[in-house]
Formats: sequence, C-alpha cells, structure tokens
Amino acid sequence: MQKSNIIIAIDGYSSTGKSTFAKLIAAKLGYIYIDTGALYRAVTLSAIDHRIISENNTIDNSALEKLLEKTVIEFRTTGENGKSETYLDGKNVESQIRRLEVSNKVSYIAAIPAVRNFVDSMLKGYGEKKGVVMDGRDIGTAVFPNAELKIFMTADPQIRAERRLQEMIQKGENPDRDEVLKNLLERDYIDTHREVAPLTQAKDAIVLDNSHMTLDEQMNWILDILHKR
Ligand code: DC
Repeated sequence: MQKSNIIIAIDGYSSTGKSTFAKLIAAKLGYIYIDTGALYRAVTLSAIDHRIISENNTIDNSALEKLLEKTVIEFRTTGENGKSETYLDGKNVESQIRRLEVSNKVSYIAAIPAVRNFVDSMLKGYGEKKGVVMDGRDIGTAVFPNAELKIFMTADPQIRAERRLQEMIQKGENPDRDEVLKNLLERDYIDTHREVAPLTQAKDAIVLDNSHMTLDEQMNWILDILHKR
C-alpha cells in the first residue's frame, strides 16, 4: 500500500460517479476529499443570482471578473456525520448548487479563463499538503499534472443518464429522462471542447469504465492499484 501521502486526481465525464468514488477512497485512506465541480457550481449560482449569465447563457465577462474579486467559497464540515458542504459568501448553498438550472449553466461559466484561474488558485492551496483526492475535469492534466495517481472515469451515456435520473428521483425531484440525457451530452461536449483546460484523458491516467461495475468492484480495483504501488 502507498506509504506516503499523495494526490489522487480523478477526472472524467459528468455523472460517472466520480464524487461517490472519490469520497470513499478519501475515507479509506484518511485523505481529504475536494469536490472541484462544487466550486464551479458555486460561481455559477452566484452569476445567476447577480444576473451575470442570461437565459440563453450569454455572459457579462467584466461583471463576472468583478464578482470573482469579492466571492468567497469555502467547504465547511457542517453536514450529517461531519460531511463537507459548500458555502458561498457565508451561506450554505450545498443543495442549491445541485439544481438543474445550475447544471445547465455551469459548463458555460467553467469555460471562462478568469473563473478557471479563480478555482485553480483555491485548488493549488488544498493540494499543498498532499493526502487529497480531487475529482473534476482537469485535475490530472492542468491543476496537478504531477499528481501521483490519475484516474480517468467514463461510462456509457445512457447508463450515466439513468444514474443521474435515479439520484434526482431520490431527492424528490421529477426529472424528464430526455432532458437529463440532453444536459449530460451537452456538458460532455462543452467540457471536452472548451479552449482552456478541456476535459481530456492525461497520458498517464488509468481508465476506469464503470458502466457495468458496482461501487465495491471499483473500490477493489483501486485498492489493488494502490497495493501494487
Ligand atoms: O463534477 P460536476 O458535475 O459537479 O462539475 C460541474 C461542472 O464544472 C462540469 O460540467 C464542468 C465543470 N468542471 C470543470 O470544468 N473542471 C473541474 N475540475 C470540475 C468541474
């Protein structure tokens, strides 16, 4: 098993179960888990609240840059069993940032270079002490290209949409299957085609296609990798 603390970078497509997997790994290793998508989602929520992004996703870039100067995002362990939750300007926004409206707009906001710089500087701070598991889109390629272990997660889009749908139903929402799949494919497209830090598999990443794998199987898979290191 890995002796010293490392950075584990988990990148991949939307709804591949990155965060569930990353949280379990962090708990198993006693590492800190950082949900990097939550930071992009919090910036998006703030942009929506300040009417900086329109209905048709046009963005007022200079207003967004000004907004970032006074935006404070933090993770606090206020949730059930000390679960980490996202705070925007002192307010708990953990459930608001998961809303479909935010999901529909986040890839547009995450494509803006000023937003990426803002989030990256936070992430670099978290990574300094090692012993972290981060999930996102560009962790192993742009944020921590020297991360000791990189995983690239993928799964069949239909299976991802079904998982997302079940997650939303469990939260008491009433999602439309076609809309969920459309949002997923749209985000895949924007995330892989943006100019700055697009989602792409790092050369030294290990691919995990979990289309037909249980969480237990995924954990055994990664623990095996860690044992062999
Ligand atoms: O992981 P998530 O679905 O919560 O991420 C939300 C969005 O944030 C995703 O569509 C792309 C963006 N993102 C990113 O560009 N880079 C990251 N490291 C993490 C997320």
